[in-house]
Amino acid sequence: MPAIRVEKREAEGVKRRLKKLGLYDGKRRPRREGDFVLLPVIDDPRIEGLGHEVLPVELPLRPERQIYKNLEDVLRGRLSEEELGYLRRYDVIGDIAVIQIPQELEHRVEEVVWGLRKVHPFLKVVAKKGFHEGAFRIRDYSIIWGEKRLKTVHRENGVEIKVDLGKAFFNPRMKGERYRLAKLVQDGERILIPFAGVLPYALVIARYKKVEITAVELNRDAYELGLENIELNSKRLRGKIEFIHGDAFEVLPELPSYDRVVSPTPRGVDALSLTLSRAERWLHYYDFVHEAKLESFRERILGECRKLGRNCGVKVKRVSDFKPHVFKVCADVRIG
Ligand SMILES: C[S@@+](CC[C@H](N)C(=O)[O-])C[C@H]1O[C@@H](n2cnc3c(N)ncnc32)[C@H](O)[C@@H]1O
Repeated sequence: MPAIRVEKREAEGVKRRLKKLGLYDGKRRPRREGDFVLLPVIDDPRIEGLGHEVLPVELPLRPERQIYKNLEDVLRGRLSEEELGYLRRYDVIGDIAVIQIPQELEHRVEEVVWGLRKVHPFLKVVAKKGFHEGAFRIRDYSIIWGEKRLKTVHRENGVEIKVDLGKAFFNPRMKGERYRLAKLVQDGERILIPFAGVLPYALVIARYKKVEITAVELNRDAYELGLENIELNSKRLRGKIEFIHGDAFEVLPELPSYDRVVSPTPRGVDALSLTLSRAERWLHYYDFVHEAKLESFRERILGECRKLGRNCGVKVKRVSDFKPHVFKVCADVRIG
C-alpha cells in the first residue's frame, strides 16, 4: 500500500484532509523520517492528484486491539477477579455484540451485557455465541439482550457487509487477512473465490483493486445477502464481482482457470486439488492444521502441484488459533 511523504509541520493538517477524503489508512502506523513523515494511505487513484510525493512503502500494521480489555476494566469491581478471568474476547458485528459465556459466568450475564453496552453504547443486540454447525458453517446464537434479530450491516476495510448471523457464516476476525490479500492482488487480475459466503473477501479485494472476480456459494441465504452486498457497495468497488449460486465441486470444473484463487475452505472439506486445478499463478488455501502437521500439510500441497505437472512454492501462514495446538492457516501457493 502507498504512503505520502510530507514535511513534519504539515503532517497533522494533511492527515486530517486525508481522513476527510476517506484516503487515510488507519490500519497502519505513520513513520518519521528526519524532518518528514510518511502517512499511510489506501491504494486509490485520487492520491496522485493531491500534489504530494507518493511512495510504495510498506508501513507496519497496527496490532489488533484486544477489545475485551476495556470490558474487563468496566466490569472490575462488579465481577470478582476470578470471574473476570473467565471473560473471553468478543466480537462486535455491526450493532450486534457476540460473546461466549462460559458456564462459570452464566449467573453474571446481566453484568456482562451491562459492561458491553457501556463500552459500546450503540449496541442494539447482544448474542451468546455457540458453535459452527453443518456444511454452511452457521453458528448457533441465542439473543441475551436487545432486539430479536441477527441481521445487521458490518463495516470493515472500507466496505459495508450485510450479514445475518443466523443464516450465513461471517467472521469479522478475518478482516486483516482480507486486507492482506487485497494488497497482494494486482489490478487486472481475474480471481476465483469458491466458498464465498456473503462475499467479504470479494468485496474487500474489489474495493481496492480493479479486478474481475467470480465467486461461488452454495447457501442460498448467503448468496442472496452477497447479491445485496454487491449492490450496497456498487459506488465503492473498483473491481467487478460475478456471483454464482451452486456447489463449488460441481461449478468449478465447468469454469476456466484464473490468475488467483482464494479458498476460504469450510472446516472438514478437502478442496485442495479442486481449487489448485483452477489457479494459474496463485492459490490462497485456508485450512485448519495441527502444529505438528504443518510440514506435512505443505508437502501435501507440493505433491498436488506435482500431480498437475506444476512447480510450486508454498508458504504456510498461521492466521489464528483454533483450539490448543491447532491453527487456522493460509497456504500461499505460488504456481510456476
Ligand atoms: C468458512 S465459510 C467462508 C465464507 C466466507 N468466505 C467468509 O469468509 O465469510 C465457508 C462457506 O462455504 C459455503 N459452502 C460450503 N460447502 C460449499 C460448497 N460445496 N460449494 C460452495 N459453497 C459451499 C458455506 O455455506 C460457507 O458460506
